[in-house]
Amino acid sequence: MNKQSRYWSVVPAAGVGSRMAAAVPKQYLTLHGKTVFEHTLSRLCGHPQMSGVVVAISVGDEHWPQLDLSDFDNIHVAEGGAERCHSVLNGLQLLSGFAAANDWVLVHDAARPCIHHNDITMMIDALKDHPVGGLLGLPVADTMKRTSGENDVLETINRDNLWRALTPQMFRLGELTQALQTALDDGFLVTDDASAIEHAGLRPRMIVGRGDNIKITRPEDLSLAEMYLAQQEKN
Ligand code: C5P
Repeated sequence: MNKQSRYWSVVPAAGVGSRMAAAVPKQYLTLHGKTVFEHTLSRLCGHPQMSGVVVAISVGDEHWPQLDLSDFDNIHVAEGGAERCHSVLNGLQLLSGFAAANDWVLVHDAARPCIHHNDITMMIDALKDHPVGGLLGLPVADTMKRTSGENDVLETINRDNLWRALTPQMFRLGELTQALQTALDDGFLVTDDASAIEHAGLRPRMIVGRGDNIKITRPEDLSLAEMYLAQQEKN
């Protein structure tokens, strides 16, 4: 008999966040008295369907040991890598030590602290019987332009069916590990997990996510995230 698939999360958290221009990596900046990273972990660890979380942390990260993780069960630590895709692959390989190849993995950026439980539940419900898996995204709202390296506009891109890819991105552990490994072997440094699955010739499913699931990237994103967290607590 087929054992029921479980749900895990892998959280790449080994970036330096150069666009933030802050003294600490962006996942360690403070929002409402807690780090961005703690907010993210509490959303993932606190989800009733999540069996456990693997975080990928930079070697020599001196902020990680200072977090108070006593409220969180079942967090495992993998080594971060040179790029996000290396960090995710390290996390998946560690997870393979105790999860089944058929289990689902929700890869989620540490820098997205406003992920709402409803989005996680909705994504699991939508994809649990899907043959490939998929990702949260938002249809592009602005007009899209491509420029030269000197910022001269070369073209306007038709935004029909164009999406911003968010996280979580949810795939089977074995399939995603294999797809990421192949993408890296082929010299393809994918910037998200779905790209590796697409590189393997498969079609991830796009699911409309919430607009408040922002990635902390620029200084102004911190106050926006504070506002979203406050708003979510009220509802
Ligand atoms: O830099 P960016 O915002 O695209 O990073 C997305 C996520 O990937 C962040 O949570 C960051 O910490 C993580 N990352 C990583 N290892 C890297 C680079 C980024 O885990 N080498």
